[in-house]
Amino acid sequence: MSLMNVDDALGLRREQVREKYKTYLSSPFASIQVLLNFDRQYVRAKDTRVWDAEGREYLDFVAGYGSVNVGHNHPRVLEALKQIEDTPKIMPTALQQLPAALAHNLAEVTPGGLCRTFFCNSGTEAVEGAIKIARAATGRPQLVSTIGGFHGKTMGALSVSGRDKYKTPFAPLLPECVQVPYGDLDVLEEVLQTQRAAAFIVELIQGEGGIIVPPPGYIKQARELCTRYGTLFVADEVQTGMGRTGHMFACEGEDIVPDIICLAKSLGGGVLAVGAYVTTDEVFKKAYGAMDRALLHTSTFGGYWGNAMACAAAIATINVLIEEKLPQRAAEVGEYFLGQLRILKETSPVLKDVRGRGLLIGLEFEHSGQGFLSRFSSDMSVKTVGDFGHMASLIAVDLANRHQILTVYTLNNPNVIRLEPPLTVTREECDQVIQALAQLLKQKKSFLGAATSTLTGAFRSSKK
Ligand SMILES: Cc1ncc(COP(=O)(O)O)c(C=O)c1O
Repeated sequence: MSLMNVDDALGLRREQVREKYKTYLSSPFASIQVLLNFDRQYVRAKDTRVWDAEGREYLDFVAGYGSVNVGHNHPRVLEALKQIEDTPKIMPTALQQLPAALAHNLAEVTPGGLCRTFFCNSGTEAVEGAIKIARAATGRPQLVSTIGGFHGKTMGALSVSGRDKYKTPFAPLLPECVQVPYGDLDVLEEVLQTQRAAAFIVELIQGEGGIIVPPPGYIKQARELCTRYGTLFVADEVQTGMGRTGHMFACEGEDIVPDIICLAKSLGGGVLAVGAYVTTDEVFKKAYGAMDRALLHTSTFGGYWGNAMACAAAIATINVLIEEKLPQRAAEVGEYFLGQLRILKETSPVLKDVRGRGLLIGLEFEHSGQGFLSRFSSDMSVKTVGDFGHMASLIAVDLANRHQILTVYTLNNPNVIRLEPPLTVTREECDQVIQALAQLLKQKKSFLGAATSTLTGAFRSSKK
């Protein structure tokens, strides 16, 4: 046996890491990262920036898929973790201070009567918890969600998500799941009026669906329909929450109060995995209010006790978001950024659409469908390249390689690049992205040729 310690791990070089990924993790995943030149080793991070092992600096507009709203390694989040160095980190046989305080904070910052928290470790688990409490509280079986939505990849959350590619290999999924078009109130009412639906699970802006902003009034009226037909409105704010769209929670911008709100990603300050759902007293009591129901839904590192590190990180994160006024900042800088991107679109025909709210922004490119590479390269198995054959991936690769700006496509809509930097981002940093995109789109033809041959070459060598 030859075990590695942390020093050994930190001493691994890029090629060694690649090999370990190929041998001990997923070789297809490693190949994709290599193919896109996304296998750099990042060794330092601060606020909106990260540095690779060669000392190059990058602007991070992926921000852990929206998990780093307060910026990388926020000193107050790190300080909170130091403060509890000596306390026990996991004590399910007690009632502890940190989960009590975090649940208090969540009741303070979430709107209306949302006040009862359940902790977990990820977004998908928050959605699982919401599905379970909705069924237990209403006694109804059906779960309604929206086409193109994304709620996670465990079985329950996957069952209410879109995109067959991610679902088909795992069939059969949960029964009684119905998907309705996002933005269509008539179809939603048709389903809800049968009064079988426990929950309508919806993102306030579809994130992985390609940053789709719903029509004005849709969310508010969907909320009203849920109330009318006795269905619980579950706001999945895993990606839109914690200030991202210009309010602490996007539901505040829509002037609604959900029955259940799902949170994760930036709740942990970009440092720890923390998820939660928060619900009303009424829903909680109907589902789990009796002594014999106290342990119906639990989790070792979550539940009602949480774990100390996760709770400390989340407590500090909420305080930072409020004190640094990061939701307001997301609104202001986001509006500026969106405005500049829309100007850029006027002169860039391959940029098909610019959309979003706050600092959750999507850029949709031409050449979607079968994938961009299929049109420009004949000697590559486009089927194998899959989502990475879309133009959005080539743009992301080029932004990283030539401009040191990190971006990534959206999971359920691979021809859309998401721009979701930390909410601490400055206008100047947004300008840097605009300039890079402008340069890249202006040189469209040569860029397309160069990017295609780079990717083709990389693809061939990754298959060796
Ligand atoms: C809206 C939404 N819900 C749920 C999830 C799942 O979160 P996790 O990846 O932490 O399980 C995501 C992840 O992107 C998300 O965007």
